[in-house]
Amino acid sequence: MKALVVYGTRYGTAAEIAEEIARVIKEEGNETDLLDVRSIKDPDVSSYDLVVVGSGIKMGKWTSKALKFLQKNKETLATQKVALFVSCGAANEEKSRPEGQEKYLDAVAAKNLVNPPVATGLFGSVYDPEAKHGLMYKLTTSFIKKDLEKKGIDSSKRHDYRDWDEIRDWARGLTRD
Ligand SMILES: Cc1cc2nc3c(=O)[nH]c(=O)nc-3n(C[C@H](O)[C@H](O)[C@H](O)COP(=O)(O)O)c2cc1C
Repeated sequence: MKALVVYGTRYGTAAEIAEEIARVIKEEGNETDLLDVRSIKDPDVSSYDLVVVGSGIKMGKWTSKALKFLQKNKETLATQKVALFVSCGAANEEKSRPEGQEKYLDAVAAKNLVNPPVATGLFGSVYDPEAKHGLMYKLTTSFIKKDLEKKGIDSSKRHDYRDWDEIRDWARGLTRD
């Protein structure tokens, strides 16, 4: 099987997830390409059996280029196995996961794909009080900081909410369908 993993990211979180997904698919014996969606103009996706497309979420949205990738390649993707994933804050807590699944995965698939994806992955985010990513990031981080403090969690430390075993299992599953 030949696989392509494409991702859109703003702060690098979805990029690291995509790297791990690509690594696992490759480890399972498949030819695998990994691409930052910003680095491709008119990709020829027709040679792939599996296309994994993912994005980080900001203000409820995929990156515009990751979304455009789905739209531009809609017809070709209709003939392939497609899996979608997102990295978002909504994945970090049980109570917000259903909304994240619906808004960032199910709705995006329904709107932009001809066929339902073979899998969707709702993966967590990273809280990093030291990161320097501009005003919006700072503002969001300050809200999260307050929330962590309310819950009695140490807000001075970085928290990685990505479940790497879950991500690896998900990627392995894509090679076995
Ligand atoms: C400005 C900003 C807005 C965000 N908006 C949302 C959101 O609407 N829903 C959500 O679940 N997570 C939201 N998040 C959390 C991000 O989805 C999360 O940090 C994700 O891992 C970012 O992926 P990226 O680093 O690949 O861009 C937001 C984060 C920031 C900094």
